[in-house]
Amino acid sequence: MANQPATNRAQMPTAPNPVLERRTVENSNRNLLKYLKPGLSVLDVGCGSGAITRGIAEKTGPTGRVLGIDLSESLLAQALQNAADIPQLRFQQADIYSFDTDERFDLITCTRTLQWLAHPQEALARMKQLLKPGGHLAVLDYNHEKIQWTPEPPEAMQKFYAAFLTWRSDAGFDNAIADHLAGLMRNIGLANIHIDPQFETTHKEDPAFAVAGRLWSEVAEIRGPQLVEAGYITEAERLEAIRTYDDWLATVGESMQVYLLAVEAQV
Ligand SMILES: C[S@@+](CC[C@H](N)C(=O)[O-])C[C@H]1O[C@@H](n2cnc3c(N)ncnc32)[C@H](O)[C@@H]1O
Repeated sequence: MANQPATNRAQMPTAPNPVLERRTVENSNRNLLKYLKPGLSVLDVGCGSGAITRGIAEKTGPTGRVLGIDLSESLLAQALQNAADIPQLRFQQADIYSFDTDERFDLITCTRTLQWLAHPQEALARMKQLLKPGGHLAVLDYNHEKIQWTPEPPEAMQKFYAAFLTWRSDAGFDNAIADHLAGLMRNIGLANIHIDPQFETTHKEDPAFAVAGRLWSEVAEIRGPQLVEAGYITEAERLEAIRTYDDWLATVGESMQVYLLAVEAQV
């Protein structure tokens, strides 16, 4: 199991992904807002279905240039469909490890993607090469080990979550990548490194709690079958995690805080 190539586990399932679709710059990547001025050229690495990338293009306007790259053909097909009306927004299927272009960018953003890469420093070095002199790199990512639920979620979800983290680390992914980004950026000689906590907290009294809190049921629905197939949990355990967690959200669940850091630097 441990030798299964990381790229297999990084691959997104092909079905539409509601978690990606409900993200916007404002609700899920607000660290970018300070950069997004008309005329900016932006590369979005691991753009998924392009929901955030579209927002970036709207804010950089018709004089800007925005390119989203991703490994997933099916997510890019959705991205293209959602962006047909914005000519300055382009998408391309590419692997960040090997992606090349003559273009150089004012801003490179990489959100919730390095968590799926076994060699994040290599990817960051690639991004550094694609920046204009003085350009900004803005990475947003998780430390999955620092999630906080109040009270503890049901045992079946705790078991699923632990299996998810093991399945990820067995493929070489860093579950605590957020807290290692600044060091990786220092290693490749980036300057002006800045860390900005972007924790996403949702409470029972928020109207969004039922949707945002459901993130882990959605992970069990969307990613869970890959864990079952790889033998990390059984199908019955996956379904029990979803059922009991949904029940927890509707009854005793008080809050959830996901640990995310925006780590930004300049070349
Ligand atoms: C969790 S999604 C994040 C999507 C979007 N940035 C967001 O925050 O909603 C991670 C994305 O990284 C892409 N990805 C994984 N490995 C990649 C690689 N080596 N090169 C380019 N994209 C990659 C996946 O296909 C997936 O769409």
